[in-house]
Amino acid sequence: MKRIGIFTSGGDAPGMNACVRAVVRSAIYHGLEVYGIYRGYQGMIDNDIHQLHSHSVSNILQRGGTVLKTARCDAFRTKEGRQIAYDNLKQHGIDGFVAIGGDGTFSGASIFNEEFGMPVIGIPGTIDNDIYGTDFTIGFDTAVNTVLDAIDKIRDTADSHGRIFFVEVMGRDSGYIAIRSAIGGGAEGVLPENNTTSDDIISYLKEDIRREKTFSIIVVAEKHTPGHTITLAEQCREALGGKDIRVTILGHIQRGGAPTAQDRVLASRLGLAAVEGLISGKTKNMVGIVNNAVNFVPLEDSYQKNKPLVQDLLRLVKILSI
Ligand code: F6P
Repeated sequence: MKRIGIFTSGGDAPGMNACVRAVVRSAIYHGLEVYGIYRGYQGMIDNDIHQLHSHSVSNILQRGGTVLKTARCDAFRTKEGRQIAYDNLKQHGIDGFVAIGGDGTFSGASIFNEEFGMPVIGIPGTIDNDIYGTDFTIGFDTAVNTVLDAIDKIRDTADSHGRIFFVEVMGRDSGYIAIRSAIGGGAEGVLPENNTTSDDIISYLKEDIRREKTFSIIVVAEKHTPGHTITLAEQCREALGGKDIRVTILGHIQRGGAPTAQDRVLASRLGLAAVEGLISGKTKNMVGIVNNAVNFVPLEDSYQKNKPLVQDLLRLVKILSI
């Protein structure tokens, strides 16, 4: 292997830049040339592929977003699109690549590897933390810290007015941000899963009222319907006799900002491990960290196997909010 490609794809996540830097510098350290593929699979198809040097990744470690840009690409779902992408990679002499992203990125990389045999290592970069085979994904810790910052501020006004606040957080297929933020933010309740109905919350809030809590914070995962918390709040307000309930939807601010120390270190470790994995002949794998050690899993496991929420954490919220 002489020349590798690197790209970021799907939703951006803080720490992606630290990871790009680690991949580029590790590859150069090991005598490889590195090409940046801009806007993920879209750039592969559009031939937006350029050589990166050590200085190309200077001063990006601390920056949110991704300097390689990102996209969600429908054309790559077609065989014709993937063929164009392959031809472009070969034209640049690229022998393998590192894909930083989430489950959509990895399923695309997996099909591409099966069709063209090009070695690939995936690195989990998504704020959702919903990837099997790693304890944490790049960007998750930063997103949770952003939510905590917001909850701390909401707590001040909730306390002053004696209000109930519903705080909606991101997580399309995952309640990880919700549960961790609820614990770190001292929330009275958390709705990390789709299967909670407004009845559950209403009885839950009635308990709170009986206990004479003067204000409450409930963290709600957006799941597949961002903004659904507004309807939920209306139902609860009605059932609780017009109780003062407000909603804050945090949205995409959770995707930005400087990565935390944890995300920078995670991204740097995974970048080096991915390059060394490719060099040692690993392919169609994802590299993650499990119990603080580097861990490779088959790429398809990363998006096919479920990473269930830790039930202990739900119990923790319940016990600590009495
Ligand atoms: O997968 C990352 C994520 O931020 C999810 O938490 C969220 O549900 C989704 O992406 C939002 O996607 P988009 O940026 O395309 O609106």
